[in-house]
Amino acid sequence: DEAKLITLIGARVSHILSKVRFDIQPIGIDSHMNALKQMLERGNKGVCMIGICGRGGIGKTTLAMALYNELSPTFEGSCFLSNMRENEKKEGLPSLQAKFMEEVLRGKMPIGNVREGVSLMKQRLGSKKVLLILDDVEHTRQLEAFTPNRREKEEWFGAGSKMIVTTRNKDVLIQHGLQEKEIYFPKGFDGQQSLQLFFRHAFVSDHLLAELDDLPQEIVEVAAGLPLALIVFGSHFSFLKKKQEWEETLETFKSEQHKDVYEQLRISYEGLNDREKYVFLDIACFFVGESKEYPFYMWEACGWRPRLALEVLQHRSLIKIDENDRFEMHDQIRDMGRMVVKEGSQFDDPLTYSRPWSKDQVLEVLKNPE
Ligand SMILES: Nc1ncnc2c1ncn2[C@@H]1O[C@H](COP(=O)(O)OP(=O)(O)OP(=O)(O)O)[C@@H](O)[C@H]1O
Ligand SMILES: [Mg+2]
Repeated sequence: DEAKLITLIGARVSHILSKVRFDIQPIGIDSHMNALKQMLERGNKGVCMIGICGRGGIGKTTLAMALYNELSPTFEGSCFLSNMRENEKKEGLPSLQAKFMEEVLRGKMPIGNVREGVSLMKQRLGSKKVLLILDDVEHTRQLEAFTPNRREKEEWFGAGSKMIVTTRNKDVLIQHGLQEKEIYFPKGFDGQQSLQLFFRHAFVSDHLLAELDDLPQEIVEVAAGLPLALIVFGSHFSFLKKKQEWEETLETFKSEQHKDVYEQLRISYEGLNDREKYVFLDIACFFVGESKEYPFYMWEACGWRPRLALEVLQHRSLIKIDENDRFEMHDQIRDMGRMVVKEGSQFDDPLTYSRPWSKDQVLEVLKNPE
C-alpha cells in the first residue's frame, strides 16, 4: 500500500507546512533579507546567532517571519517562539523550552524548570540542525534558556543551526556575547514604501485621490517610516471621504508629529465613539490572546453593541481576530490603550485604575479593604 502511505505522508507534510508558515505580504524587504542571509552565512561552522534590533513597530517580527518562511524547510527542525516578553509571563520559560523541543522532536516533552530544559536540549539536540527564532526578547535570561553566552564558545545544537533573536534592546544581545556586526538594525520605510503601505489600508477612490494633491505625502511623513503607524494612519483615513476632512485630520496629526508613537497611535483611538473606546480598552487590558466569546456576552449585556464596535476596531487596524476567534493586538497599540487607562486615573496608583490588568495590580486592589 505504497500509494496510501505516500498520500498520508503528503498530507502530514502539507499539514506541517501550513502550520508553520506565516501569511504575510511584506513591502520592500528584499534588501533586508539579503543582508540578513549574508549575516547568517558568516557563522556557518557552528551555531550561528544574529539579532534584529530596533524600536517597536519598525518591522522586526515581520522580518523574522519572512526569514522563517524562507529558511525553515532546509532545517531538520524549526520553531518560532513569538512574543517572548509576554509569553514568559503567561507560560513561563520551561513551557517555552518544551514547545521548542516538541516542535523539533515531535513528541511530548514536559519540562519542570529551565535547568532541566537546558540539559534536555544538550542531550537531544546536540547533533540536530535546527532553526530557532526568539521574537521580542526582553531579558538575557530568555536567551540563556536556549543558548549559552556566546563568549563561552559552547554549543547546544548541531552544526549549521541558526538562531535569530529580535529585540528592542540591543544591550540584551551584547550582554549575551553577540558582537555589533552580528546585529541588524532595520531602517524605517522610505517615502515610496510608506505611501504603498498607507494606501494599502486607506482605500482611496480614484476620484478622491485626484483631489488630494500632496496630502498623502504629508501624512506619511508624520509616520516617519514606521510601518505600524502607517497602517494605523491609513486605516484612520479610510473613514474620511472628503478632502476637507483629510486636511483637518492632517493638522491634528501634525500637532502630534514630534511626540512619541503612543501619542500618534492615540489619534486613532480618539476617533472612536464611547462604546468602541470601552471595548478597545477592555481588550487592551484583558483580552489580548483570549477568545472573543465571553467578553462578547459581557459587552452585549452592557448594551455596547460589540459586533459593530469590533468591526470598527478591525477596520481601524487596532485589533485583529484570528482564525480561532481570538483577539490579536499589536503590543504598541495595547500599550497605548493601557497608557490611556493609566492617564484616566492617578498614574501610579492601581487602586484608581478602571481596569487593573496585571496580577500585581489586582492583588494591590484586593489587599485594600475599601
Ligand atoms: N515590510 C513590511 N510590509 C508591510 N507591513 C509591514 C512591514 N513591516 C512591518 N509591517 C507591519 O507593521 C506592523 C509592525 O511590524 P512588526 O510587528 O514586525 O514590528 P516589530 O518591530 O516587531 O514591533 P515590536 O517591537 O512592537 O514587536 C505590523 O502590523 C506589520 O504587519
Ligand atoms: Mg515584534
